[in-house]
Amino acid sequence: MRFCMIILSLVSSLVLLAGCDSPAEKEHGIKVGTNAEFPPFEKLEGNGKITGFDAEILSAVAKAENLSFDFQHTGWDVMLNGVARGRLDAGISAITITEGRQKIYDFTEPYFEAKQVILVPSASPVKTLNDLKGKKIGVQSSTTGEQVVQKAFGNTYPGLKRYDVISSAVEDLKLGRIDAVVVDEAVNAEYLKKLGKSQFKTVQDSSMPAESYGIIVKKGNRELLNKLNSGLKKIKQNGTYDKIYAKYFGDK
Ligand code: ARG
Repeated sequence: MRFCMIILSLVSSLVLLAGCDSPAEKEHGIKVGTNAEFPPFEKLEGNGKITGFDAEILSAVAKAENLSFDFQHTGWDVMLNGVARGRLDAGISAITITEGRQKIYDFTEPYFEAKQVILVPSASPVKTLNDLKGKKIGVQSSTTGEQVVQKAFGNTYPGLKRYDVISSAVEDLKLGRIDAVVVDEAVNAEYLKKLGKSQFKTVQDSSMPAESYGIIVKKGNRELLNKLNSGLKKIKQNGTYDKIYAKYFGDK
């Protein structure tokens, strides 16, 4: 009987231990992935550092929650798969909260409002999304930009050109290999600044729905989700969020 009690308490403390942070989490902090090729949200600097709006939001949230983290440029698909399978603890990458993704991940509360816009050469006759019918449209694979085009022209639309990174789509647009790029508004604005407003312009279409970004965690990881949400709440309340927002996008 006594022996059984000892075993029992041993087992329960093991169970308790297993319920705590994983060893990896304790040593190096949570592993967070991103596709650091999406300025102004995330960008990989020459020194290997990831900068941008999301990077600063993540740092601020982690600081508010006393959470250490390891932020990695994994690429878009590797991030999505990694968080789904638990190889990464979280992903922050201008990730739009969509119904489909909510089946696979848990999202934090929204932290940024966004939408898709169309980037075209200045001389383009395109005025609406529908005007793109029959034209070659570049998007980043597995993004809401791709979804917008598929919704408008069908899943197998032959003019849809998918790229691993959005910069390659913009390169092809510059070279005249495609007619338009559908991409998140703030990223488009960043490209317009670089490309020069005389050669490219933005087309907005009200049929492209409002989006909001959230941070993803593996479905069911309540503990981390709660921490991230609590951190987001704190930085929204204490003015840190507004400061970071103003740095990248000007005052609201
Ligand atoms: N907001 C879009 C989406 O969630 C595009 C995000 C792409 N992000 C990136 N870092 N490449 O589908």
